[in-house]
Amino acid sequence: MMKPISLSAYSRVVFFTGAGMSAESGVPTYRGRGGIWAEYRWEEYACQDAFDADPNKVLDFHEQRRGRVLACQPHAGHMHLAALQAAHPGLSIITQNTDGMHQRAGAREVVELHGSLWRMRCARHGAVEDLGAAVYENRDCGLCGGLLRPDITWFADAVNAAVFARAQQLIEEAELFVAVGTSGIVYPAAGLVPVAARSGARMIEINPDETELSGMFGERVRETAGVAVPRVFEI
Ligand code: OAD
Repeated sequence: MMKPISLSAYSRVVFFTGAGMSAESGVPTYRGRGGIWAEYRWEEYACQDAFDADPNKVLDFHEQRRGRVLACQPHAGHMHLAALQAAHPGLSIITQNTDGMHQRAGAREVVELHGSLWRMRCARHGAVEDLGAAVYENRDCGLCGGLLRPDITWFADAVNAAVFARAQQLIEEAELFVAVGTSGIVYPAAGLVPVAARSGARMIEINPDETELSGMFGERVRETAGVAVPRVFEI
């Protein structure tokens, strides 16, 4: 079993999180048992073509997801990670999750590679913070009346280049890189793992299962996020 690690030995630390980070809160993952893409075809719910064909169907799906996420609470792993970040100025959280759970646990800055369920975006006027309620207050832009879409990186969307560049820079500088709960099969996000390995970071994977990228990690913790994050990292 891995001994506890004190982050004070590292000036730059990155936690890179995926859907498994929120699984113990009750937020479903995308793949594997109970995964969202086993129940829903992303082609009908999570791409621009689906939105263009039937925006209300896509928005209803996202409202339902918001409702489910709002009913969940951050767990001990989210809380511990936020406390680690508060204690360590060089700790960055980079997430593929759109659920806002790190922020609800008190994390101060989170790089959201795939956007957020809690923002909407107008094609002309950019992103708007919404109310954070399950139901969207508006489905149209208040300025131009155009349809608002969730500010999420859907299938076939490009990731936000500035956000990705920020993540890449943080990872290149990291001396310790910890991946938590990601299958590592969705690119370009998964490509950030080899970036960390090439930069010579200490590499730790937290995931109960083997992943496509496990071979890149010198240390693998086969425990869940809620157990391993508080156990392995000392404030
Ligand atoms: P996946 O659903 O692909 O993978 C979840 C990973 O979490 C798997 O490797 C599981 O073994 C692991 N896991 C499950 N429970 C866990 C637990 N309690 N603790 C730790 N790990 C656990 O999710 P992502 O890798 O995040 O894109 O998927 C990447 C992207 O694909 C998502 O961001 C999403 C999806 O399509 C968008 O929404 C744009």
